[in-house]
Amino acid sequence: MKWTASKLKALKGKQKIAMLTAYDALTASLVEASGIPAVLVGDSLGMTMLGYESTLPVSMEEMLHHTAAVSRGVEDSLVIADMPFMSYQTSLEAGLMNAGRFLKEASADAVKIEGGAIRGELIESLVQNGIPVLGHIGLTPQSIKETGGYKVQGKTSEQARRLMDDAMAVEQAGAFAIVLECIPAELGEMISNALSIPTIGIGAGAGCDGQVLVFTDLLGISGKPVPKFVKKYANLNPIIIDAVKAYKSEVEEGSFPASEQTY
Ligand code: KIV
Repeated sequence: MKWTASKLKALKGKQKIAMLTAYDALTASLVEASGIPAVLVGDSLGMTMLGYESTLPVSMEEMLHHTAAVSRGVEDSLVIADMPFMSYQTSLEAGLMNAGRFLKEASADAVKIEGGAIRGELIESLVQNGIPVLGHIGLTPQSIKETGGYKVQGKTSEQARRLMDDAMAVEQAGAFAIVLECIPAELGEMISNALSIPTIGIGAGAGCDGQVLVFTDLLGISGKPVPKFVKKYANLNPIIIDAVKAYKSEVEEGSFPASEQTY
């Protein structure tokens, strides 16, 4: 069964939603084989795959390239493309045009946009034009220059109220779900209870309607420190390095290829 944005939205209150990032066809196919209904091609790919310091340098062309690969790797999972920095901030037209490119050129099913009330008009316009939108509030990594880094958001009652208003605005504009990143668990639960669309938490506590993690964090591939909200379900970094070291040694000592690998 092909997942759609409305099918995912309908899970609210019935089943918690597991979402995971993927950046290529191989990992996307593994994510789908694990039964995950929605794959996010996050602009986190800039840091996890492309070696950038932040998500800010990620371009439309890079996102399209990786989203198209993810779409080729899955059959039924919902593919959500993250709109990169400055692909939607400059004008409504730019936002519509760039979001449309994800559906036309990369076979995405939906797009994700960072920001709350300020994005209301754009979200409404995208949805009216047939482009499902996943909102994203709380810690929004495209705004780190303004917010001053990767910090927990919504800690004061004033900030919490603003985030609640932002979440309401995103829902009212027509988003099918919203990511809540790095906010106190109590606020995550309050927003989840107040909205009729699913909240997908990342560092927003267990009261959210779903959770999203970065693929490489969950598998412990990068070897770099991960935020507190990450649970490493595997620690593949040393396993991969050991396997590659074993290959190197066998090549150097002449024991690979052996007769089994020889024609
Ligand atoms: O870019 C990304 O991977 C994200 C998720 C962590 C929500 O925005």
